[in-house]
Amino acid sequence: MTWQNRAEKKSSLNDLDLDRWREYSEIITDSLWLIPERDRSGVHLADYHGNFVPQIPYQAMRRYTRRGDVVLDAFLGSGTTLIECRRLGRHGVGIELKSELAQQAAERIESQNNPHEITTQVVTGDSCNSVVAQRLITKALKKIDREQCQLVILHPPYHSIIRFSDLSEDISNCPSVEVFRQKIGQVVDVVTPFLEATRFLVLVIGDMYAGSEWIPLGFHCMQEVLDRGYKLKSIVVKDMQGNRAKRNLENIWRYRALAGGFYIFKHEYVMFFQKVGKKKREYETNENNETNEKA
Ligand SMILES: C[S@@+](CC[C@H](N)C(=O)[O-])C[C@H]1O[C@@H](n2cnc3c(N)ncnc32)[C@H](O)[C@@H]1O
Repeated sequence: MTWQNRAEKKSSLNDLDLDRWREYSEIITDSLWLIPERDRSGVHLADYHGNFVPQIPYQAMRRYTRRGDVVLDAFLGSGTTLIECRRLGRHGVGIELKSELAQQAAERIESQNNPHEITTQVVTGDSCNSVVAQRLITKALKKIDREQCQLVILHPPYHSIIRFSDLSEDISNCPSVEVFRQKIGQVVDVVTPFLEATRFLVLVIGDMYAGSEWIPLGFHCMQEVLDRGYKLKSIVVKDMQGNRAKRNLENIWRYRALAGGFYIFKHEYVMFFQKVGKKKREYETNENNETNEKA
C-alpha cells in the first residue's frame, strides 16, 4: 500500500479529489504565503483601506468548505469574503458594524454574478455583543434553512492600526490591548455555537507597535481562541509588503527602524483552528448514507 492509498481519498471538509491532488496547483499547502498580486477580477475593487486580498478567503474556502456550505464572516468590511462565496458556490453571512459600509458591501456583492445560486446576506451589528450578534446570525441562517455554518472567518481590525470609525463598539477604538483581546474572545464565544464541530475558524491578524514595543497581537488573539478549546492546525505567515499604508513611506520607515532598533512589519498571520467535538446527528447520518452508498 502506497502513502497515497493510505491517505483518505475523500475529505468531509472540502470538494478536493485526492486522486487528482497533482492538479490542484492553485491550492497553497505551505505556511509561508507570498502572494505577489491581489486578485482584482470580478467586482473586487480593493478600495477599502484595511481589506484583505481575496486569495485569503478563497484558499480557506477551497480547503475547508464544500459547495453549498455556509461561511460566516464576523468583520465583513467591504465584503471580500461574500464575493468569493458567490464565485465558489458557498452561502455567506457577513456582519459589519458600519451601516453605510454594510449597505455598499451588499450592493457590490449582489453585482458579482452568482452561477451557483447561493445566498449571501449582509447584516449590520456589533459582532462582540452576544445577544445582538447571535440573534442576527440565527435569523440569517434560518433564511437558508440552516442552524450552523461550516467555516468562520475573522478579520478584525488590528487594534488601533487603522481606526475604522468613531463608534464605541468598533474594536479599533478599544482603549487597550487587554480590552481588544477580551473583545476577540467575545466574538469567538458568539460564533462558536454556530460552527459545526470539526470545522474551521480562520483568524487573520497582524501585530503592532505601541510605546516602542512590539505587541504580539496575533498571539494574544490566538490564545483567546485556544482558551475556548479549539485545536490550532496552522499558522500561516503572509507577506504584506504591498500594503497601502507603508507603500509610499519606505524610506521614513527604514530610518525609523534603524533609529529605533526594530524591524518593519512585513507580515501578518492567517491562523487556522479546528473546532473539536462531535458533529450533530443529522450530519453523521448523511455521512453514513454516503458510506453505505459507496459500499
Ligand atoms: C480589517 S476590516 C475587515 C476587512 C474585510 N476583510 C474586507 O476585505 O473588506 C475590519 C472591519 O471590522 C469592522 N468592525 C469593527 N468593530 C466591529 C464590531 N464590533 N462588529 C462588527 N464589525 C466591526 C470595521 O468597521 C471594519 O470594516
